[in-house]
Amino acid sequence: VLCKYYLMGVVALAAITLQSCSSTSDEKVLYFAHSLPTSHPVHKGILAMQEALKENSGGKLQIKIFPDGQLGSEREAIELLQIGSIAMTKVSASALSNFAPEYQIMVIPYLFRDSDHLFRNLEGEVGKQLLESGTEYLLRGICFYDAGARSFYTKDKPVNSPDDLDGLKLRVQNDQMSVDMANTLGASATPMAFGELYTALQQNVVDGAENNIPSFVSSNHFEVCKYYIFDEHTRVPDVVVIGTKFWDSLSDEEKGWLEEAAEESVVKQKQYWHETVEENMKMLKEEGVEFIYPDQEPFIEKSRPIMERLMQNPKLKPMIEKINSN
Ligand code: GCU
Repeated sequence: VLCKYYLMGVVALAAITLQSCSSTSDEKVLYFAHSLPTSHPVHKGILAMQEALKENSGGKLQIKIFPDGQLGSEREAIELLQIGSIAMTKVSASALSNFAPEYQIMVIPYLFRDSDHLFRNLEGEVGKQLLESGTEYLLRGICFYDAGARSFYTKDKPVNSPDDLDGLKLRVQNDQMSVDMANTLGASATPMAFGELYTALQQNVVDGAENNIPSFVSSNHFEVCKYYIFDEHTRVPDVVVIGTKFWDSLSDEEKGWLEEAAEESVVKQKQYWHETVEENMKMLKEEGVEFIYPDQEPFIEKSRPIMERLMQNPKLKPMIEKINSN
């Protein structure tokens, strides 16, 4: 563990020393950090962006990726972006909600009826408003990636209703909305960084966690957790973000290349997502992970106070209403 942190420190220091990009007169390289493993379909989406950008800029604008939390947690990556030490990151909308409060709406349980409802909104006005909302905090949103639905998984307790969550210590993401979500549903929320979770599960620090299928698999949490419960409480998308300091330094032509590459990657990433979920589900069954499909109604009922609370916020209310009527 010490060695890992030492290494992280060295890499982070190198990134800071090198600044958010390296450039020669005819080539700029943007540093892009994220916390997912390279086998994850979101990483593959980022690779697609990297490739498209290289191609459409004729190699003049390129991306160098630091995956797997090499430069730290999502919170740390966001902070590195704000101070201009790295150019880009991909984080969960939950992580962004700590910085740009509009993103809190993306963590409201059962706000989105299904994946179509989510993407109709992300690709419409709500999505545009969210991506722009970060600019005030030096975090300009570039695009959304599919991150499916998040569901609970436990080491050894089958969960069929919110009552079964009682007394379970479950890891959630490090933001207030995620903590409220798990506590309101009856669990005992334990926020921590994604990279620390495998060990925490193994050492019984927590009894389970919640995530989408590709993250459950690529992090190897399925080796320790034998129940995956499809309660699908949230559909928190992933967001590609660029630091405004860096964005402002790009020419209009360079901005265009980047936006075009992002758009291309969004289409491909969705495809990678669906393929991966299908493969992963097959593998999990073979590995003996038990899938539970509970009645979602009691989960929906029990988590309703969260939406009601956010509706009190005059900034968030119109966005929530728009989503509900869309
Ligand atoms: C998902 C998401 C990540 C996030 C992780 C988490 O995997 O894509 O960005 O870090 O959930 O639970 O922390």
